[in-house]
Amino acid sequence: MTLFASFPAARPRRLRRDGATRDLVREHRLHAHDLILPVFVQEGHQVSTAVPSMPGVARLSLDRVLALAEEAQGLGIRALALFPVIDASLKDLEGREAHNPEGLVPRALRALKAAVPELALITDVALDPYTSHGQDGVIDGQGRILNDETVALLAQQAVVQAQAGADIVAPSDMMDGRVGAVRQALEAAGHIHTRILAYSAKYASAYYGPFRDAVGSATSLGKADKKTYQMDPGNGDEALHEVALDIAEGADMVMVKPGVAYLDIVYRVKQAFRRPTFAYQVSGEYAMLKAAAAQGWLDHDAVMMETLLGFKRAGADAILTYHALEAARLLKG
Ligand code: PBG
Repeated sequence: MTLFASFPAARPRRLRRDGATRDLVREHRLHAHDLILPVFVQEGHQVSTAVPSMPGVARLSLDRVLALAEEAQGLGIRALALFPVIDASLKDLEGREAHNPEGLVPRALRALKAAVPELALITDVALDPYTSHGQDGVIDGQGRILNDETVALLAQQAVVQAQAGADIVAPSDMMDGRVGAVRQALEAAGHIHTRILAYSAKYASAYYGPFRDAVGSATSLGKADKKTYQMDPGNGDEALHEVALDIAEGADMVMVKPGVAYLDIVYRVKQAFRRPTFAYQVSGEYAMLKAAAAQGWLDHDAVMMETLLGFKRAGADAILTYHALEAARLLKG
């Protein structure tokens, strides 16, 4: 056993005595490079539609997204995650619009690649913004989510996104075998450099509520839930199993979602696999802080930075967060 000094030889408070010392001995730091900005994109020109349950977040038309992307890049943010708001008239049972090469996401990718080529573009691989029932997959007559049929569509969707310029495709659907299918389809189409960020441990969480308002899948989904594919919040070991499968199937990076309530999972995944591990601080987490701060009950910026640092301490390499711009501005000082 290691011998260590005890009081008074050891006075841990010595290292906390002044700012200089605290700065020298700090173990974890947050950097703008750690932050990934999720963006909601919609059709139109110069439109910005507020998301009431996410104060400070809006659904933006493409021209506005380009401006936001430039701002993000200027603040040191290296990646943007795109989420489309699809017109209800384009939604159907199979989410066909998801693999339309002229759809909103491919057009956004091409425009962003031209305007901000250095910014990494992450796309969501899932059908829920495109299905009339709001599920991430196709359904049978009883409303059950069909796994393999969905996986085939996701692979097509990922190839369309890679073709249009996605640097990183991120399957968020939790179907079995989708990472392998996406990887194979990408290789077959010659997209050997496209990275896969797998939402490996994605839980069936009530924290996604405001996001579903933002993309309009809440109304499509109605009272249905996603518990037959997203993970049970009671499980931890199962997350390691999901991550192991995704890595074996060809994921380059893995993700845990939601964030704060699942930091134990972030920690375990990082410890077990030592692979790039991302965490998603989801819409409900963002909404909670905004609501408390609006009441004057919490110091918004301090709690935001403390929370983001907590992700780093748990082992996250990067964090998807709606606070990305605000945090990057603070980091710039
Ligand atoms: C759906 C998807 C969801 C989120 C990201 N991709 C919602 C869901 O699974 O219903 C949630 C993100 C958030 O709450 O911020 N494929």
